[in-house]
Amino acid sequence: MSKAKFHLHPHHHVGAVDPRIFGGFLEHMGRAVYEGIYDPTSAQADDYGCRTDVLSALDELDFTVMRYPGGNFVSNYHWRDGVGPIHDRPTRRDLAWGTIEPNTFGTNEFLSLCKRTGWSPMFAVNLGTGLPEEAADWVEYTNGELETDIAEQQKVDQSDNVSKVPLWCLGNEMDGPWQMGHMPAADYGIKARQAAHMMKLVDPSIELVVSGTSLPDNSTYLEWDRQALEAVGGLADYLSTHRYLDNYSGDTSQFLCSGVAVDQQIAEIDSVCRYVAGRRRSRRRPFIAFDEWNVWYRTRNRENMWAGGKFPAHLVEEIYDLQDALVCAQFLMSFIRNADVVKIANIAQVVNVIAPVLTSGDKLLRQTIFEALAMFVNRREGNSLRLSYEGPTVDSADFGYVAAVDGAAILSDNNELHVYAVNRSVELPLDLEVDFSGGHLQVVSSEMLHHPTPTAQNTWDNPDAVRRSGVEFSGDGKSLVQLPPNCFVAATFKVT
Ligand code: AHR
Repeated sequence: MSKAKFHLHPHHHVGAVDPRIFGGFLEHMGRAVYEGIYDPTSAQADDYGCRTDVLSALDELDFTVMRYPGGNFVSNYHWRDGVGPIHDRPTRRDLAWGTIEPNTFGTNEFLSLCKRTGWSPMFAVNLGTGLPEEAADWVEYTNGELETDIAEQQKVDQSDNVSKVPLWCLGNEMDGPWQMGHMPAADYGIKARQAAHMMKLVDPSIELVVSGTSLPDNSTYLEWDRQALEAVGGLADYLSTHRYLDNYSGDTSQFLCSGVAVDQQIAEIDSVCRYVAGRRRSRRRPFIAFDEWNVWYRTRNRENMWAGGKFPAHLVEEIYDLQDALVCAQFLMSFIRNADVVKIANIAQVVNVIAPVLTSGDKLLRQTIFEALAMFVNRREGNSLRLSYEGPTVDSADFGYVAAVDGAAILSDNNELHVYAVNRSVELPLDLEVDFSGGHLQVVSSEMLHHPTPTAQNTWDNPDAVRRSGVEFSGDGKSLVQLPPNCFVAATFKVT
């Protein structure tokens, strides 16, 4: 059996893992909000009209921040349409997804939901068809402390004493020609700076995310980011970046190496952040908000992305398989490995739309990617450790020779070591040893996500086809585990 080893040292810290890298994203799109989160007609609805089954499944994933209300949707969304008495709210055309927006779920419904779930709200403002003043007014509405008409109006509109919104995105994917109000980076920079200036005048405590390149394939990749960051200057706290990985070629071996692209994108975006801070002679650098990430390709076509007036429409309801789950695990491992620069990350999305959870009528399905996300839930607090890998490689056409086992590790303050490993090889079983510089490891918990067929899916007919299960560690230090091909293992050890 081939052997692989993770070498770790308790003092080799990368940085504290920011809990906000375990964030989600809820957009007014398809059946994410309506029929997903919010469905007063469902037998599962609570007093707020929200689906209890969906909320309890999402609760298992323990999202920290939740980005809202879009996505492309936000670039034609006017927040005032979604507040005040529900029967007075207008029904609008949504040009992002070709549907209508009834506005029965808006700012206060979302903030009340955040209060009940414990999610910290992360809002995106409309810098497509919206103006900087409208963005600043939204901050005034949710966070304003003076007795202005706008701030006082929220007290009239909601009764749940909801919390303020600490984090705001300055538009969404403004570099993309598909975005309503898309404009060149220089123009976006002016508009974003104006909005940022006014928003921080209203509430200086908020943090702002500059819209970065949405796809590394875009011709403006990195150059857009530089120009936008330079324009927003010292008002920028984070730079947004997005990535959807795919397996159009159906090549599992190649696909399981594509997590490498995430490390590469982080390194490139980080270099822009450092460059811009350096040019400003500033010690305060922007960090990375990886605020949309996932696997998405099967439903990435016009048929699945245009509702044609239908509401709510089944848009991009991707059915995930084991390979997708292994790639999702690699996204999170990359964010952990880069804990010093990635401070926020949001899986896109959380229900029905490219999501870990699907609904059909009153039924709910946990997809394969749900299982991978769940394996991080009780293993994410502490310092990311630098990991050096010793072992076999796999040859990948796009990335060259890549470690056969992708890994990440976190050491908590109470001396618990969390280790993650994906065996990327489609044929090679491996013995993995965790070497903690001589420290003795005692297994506290360990689980594996595996199926002999990488294309295995959880479906309505077979909802439990791919589920995580226990896995045994052995050896003297109890730090050896057998990894079958295509598997993800997560374990927690007590360091003694
Ligand atoms: O998450 C789906 C869409 O993907 C978002 O609306 C957009 O920002 C991205 O292109």
